[in-house]
Amino acid sequence: MIDKEKLTGLIEDAIAGLSYDEGPQGLFAPVRYTLEGGGKRLRPLLLLSTCEALGGDPDKAISQAVGLEMFHNFTLLHDDVMDNAEVRRGRPTVHRRWNPSVAILSGDAMLTMATELVCKDSGAHLREVLDLFNRTAMEVYGGQQLDMEFENRRDVSVKEYVEMIRLKTSVLLACACKLGAIMAGASEKDADAMYSYGEKLGLAFQLQDDNLDTYGDPALFGKEIGGDIINEKKTWLWINAAQRAPRELQHILDKKLTDYLKIQEVRSLYDSLGLKEEAASLIKSYAEQAVEALAGVNMAPDSREFFTSLAMRSAARSN
Ligand code: IPE
Ligand code: IPE
Ligand code: MG
Ligand code: MG
Ligand code: MG
Repeated sequence: MIDKEKLTGLIEDAIAGLSYDEGPQGLFAPVRYTLEGGGKRLRPLLLLSTCEALGGDPDKAISQAVGLEMFHNFTLLHDDVMDNAEVRRGRPTVHRRWNPSVAILSGDAMLTMATELVCKDSGAHLREVLDLFNRTAMEVYGGQQLDMEFENRRDVSVKEYVEMIRLKTSVLLACACKLGAIMAGASEKDADAMYSYGEKLGLAFQLQDDNLDTYGDPALFGKEIGGDIINEKKTWLWINAAQRAPRELQHILDKKLTDYLKIQEVRSLYDSLGLKEEAASLIKSYAEQAVEALAGVNMAPDSREFFTSLAMRSAARSN
């Protein structure tokens, strides 16, 4: 039976045990600050739980799990510069606590550390593990590029949005699942099915992140609310408002409001269109698709239950 507390304990111990003894400490203080600042540890949890569910030993995949968490945290340092975000996990972002150069360089160090960790102790799986990790990383960068390009476009479609979030967010969750399967020596069919699970889960996860960016409680979410609206991110909410009430949205934008009022007015427009509820049902349907992807996977019923509940909880999360 998959014991979430036990796996989380393994992850936290491994993160606490990382050593940062090469080079100037100024490079590593932000790395520690970020990794020790909490977070849900979803990617390493997916990796270790998939490994265990498919008959592997999670103790033997710890390095890959921490490597993906390191990679994820690296993307956050750079993402916060790109999104001009002030707060993460309830604390100042690295580029605010230090400065953007520090966030860029410490992020670079994290990417190298992540690659090292992902490769370490991967034994006979090294080639496959590294290829998947590198391909995933390139996809994430592509997704982030699209995310930024979309800020300056008015005609982004829902289809383009879904592909953008698949790249920037889903593929890393999918990679976590597949790496867990590879480390367990699972069949290609099961590894691919777990990849699909992670991919659909990732769509639900990012859609919910976008909802929380507008409707979340900052004390729980750990990030400031409204950043997506200020940056005119082409979220599902924004795209649907732009399609269904183009004149109303344009009218709000033409007023050149303060950030605070812009957030208020765009959110009221979303509310008047009932978008929050519609998004919630779309999120639920992606979580259900994630569960459906597990159908043919050879795993115990309680493992299936674990992944089902993880998907459903991620879809309704508030942090
Ligand atoms: C934040 O990821 C970036 C997104 C893909 C939405 P998480 O919501 O997993 O962040 P932490 O690691 O729990 O802080
Ligand atoms: C982030 O998307 C995706 C990556 C970091 C690759 P967001 O920009 O929505 O993530 P948050 O909300 O800042 O965590
Ligand atoms: Mg961001
Ligand atoms: Mg972003
Ligand atoms: Mg977000």
